[in-house]
Amino acid sequence: MPLVNAKEMLTKAKAGHYAVGQFNINNLEWTKAILLTAEELKSPVILGVSEGAGKYMCGYKTVVGMVTAMIEELNITVPVALHLDHGSYEGAKKCIEAGFSSIMFDGSHYPIEENFAKTKELVETCNKLGLSIEAEVGSIGGEEDGVVGMGECADPDECKMIADLGVTMLAAGIGNIHGVYPENWPGLSFETLDAIQAKTGDMPLVLHGGTGIPDDMIKKAIALGVSKINVNTECQLVFAEATRAYIEAGKDKQGKGFDPRKLLAPGTEAIKAKVKEKMEIFGSVGKA
Ligand code: 13P
Repeated sequence: MPLVNAKEMLTKAKAGHYAVGQFNINNLEWTKAILLTAEELKSPVILGVSEGAGKYMCGYKTVVGMVTAMIEELNITVPVALHLDHGSYEGAKKCIEAGFSSIMFDGSHYPIEENFAKTKELVETCNKLGLSIEAEVGSIGGEEDGVVGMGECADPDECKMIADLGVTMLAAGIGNIHGVYPENWPGLSFETLDAIQAKTGDMPLVLHGGTGIPDDMIKKAIALGVSKINVNTECQLVFAEATRAYIEAGKDKQGKGFDPRKLLAPGTEAIKAKVKEKMEIFGSVGKA
């Protein structure tokens, strides 16, 4: 199946009270692990690409080429959206040109009027081309690709204003943070989420910073209207841990254990297991 935008999968998720995972990709192994797991579990999936990861993978065109070819060569039949994560205005335009099926424009650091104006323009472009678009109100905490957010809670009225522009899905800060949560993290603000959902109705809401959020909070967030959950750091952590174990066990020094296809295999398997665990918690298994 060719790339699809994220609208249909997220509309179904919202109506069916489950969430579709966005798993960020960093290279070929990441992409392969996520696609194969989605296919095995018959789950729709969103591949997230941050601007930094896009640059690392030699540009958005390379990413589109790799992902579309892999879907074909691996006979992936489940719906796959290729989505720019936390895009700048310029980055969004580049991804649209390169052939992404979905973009996020993160204008949360602009004054709301500027976020509104830029989001509006990109919504028009995406609508014309049949792409889905995610907007953000209230910055997500933590650090991602050098962008540091304070983890604020979004203003529900501002969320409504942006949602009314016709965006496909909306990321709203509800105390969530990218990366590992600090010990003293107070948890998600369900009060804010509830107020946002009351104002935005059927609009699928996006929960960023999926790494380390306890399962009960994830389930409550889904019950309150979250239909897309982003996970990045957790896959990186399990990949690093499995690779470390391989090397610490001296396996790279046994026979041809240095072969990258062997060296990177435990990390790739670890990503598969993590993605499976998340899809089961999110409830997207069998929903393709
Ligand atoms: P984590 O790295 O905390 O899982 O967050 C991912 C994310 O929100 C990507 O936008």
